[in-house]
Amino acid sequence: MPRIKLQRFALNAARPDIVEPGKPTYQQLAGRWRADFFHNDHPLVLEVGCGKGEYTVGLAQRHPAQNFLGLDIKGERIWRGSTRAEALGLGNVGFVRMMAHALDLHFAGRELSEIWLTFPDPRPRDRDIKRRLTSPRFLNLYAQLLAPGGLVHLKTDSAALHAYTLETLAGRSGAEVLAATQDLYAETSADFEAAQAIQTHFEGKYRALGVPITYLRFRLS
Ligand SMILES: C[S@@+](CC[C@H](N)C(=O)[O-])C[C@H]1O[C@@H](n2cnc3c(N)ncnc32)[C@H](O)[C@@H]1O
Repeated sequence: MPRIKLQRFALNAARPDIVEPGKPTYQQLAGRWRADFFHNDHPLVLEVGCGKGEYTVGLAQRHPAQNFLGLDIKGERIWRGSTRAEALGLGNVGFVRMMAHALDLHFAGRELSEIWLTFPDPRPRDRDIKRRLTSPRFLNLYAQLLAPGGLVHLKTDSAALHAYTLETLAGRSGAEVLAATQDLYAETSADFEAAQAIQTHFEGKYRALGVPITYLRFRLS
């Protein structure tokens, strides 16, 4: 493994804002994130597949009275988000290195107020449907972990994933789509401001190529 990567992993191991395998906090914070990790009772917002953490950090800057957690399986990407949060002196940000399908081992029912899915891998092959972050399996997990009225946001460059998600929600009892667009940056309504305010690494790349960015905001049951 390249030396720089090993150095970053060593830094992650010493950082209190990162929860990852091997640390005493790993899988021990379900139901206790606010009390034991953030030391407050503010709402908890989770970004799944946060990559380099632009969204998690950007939201934390804008909303100091909420807590933000970025989740990703890649330690080096999490290192970048954590480094940025540290440079900005943000106390309302953390990162967790884990696989998304194990969410219920790390969070208690109703513990989250919002979930952001930012440019998840679209997984276009039929045999990968279960791994799409908006498949019924994942929507069931989100429904369990979100507080009543909790929101899910999906930003993606993939028109297919956007359409798949709308179709899945249409077939789901109690689901409610609150905002939907196939071209987020063509929208002028205030409904889309929050989703326009921050750009992720992948978003910047797709926008530079002229690919429209889609957005959905929805509630589960
Ligand atoms: C296409 S990148 C998007 C990253 C970031 N949200 C952005 O927009 O720049 C997808 C990210 O999700 C992470 N990821 C994919 N599947 C995951 C899973 N099942 N559990 C945790 N992280 C996952 C990858 O490591 C990667 O960082």
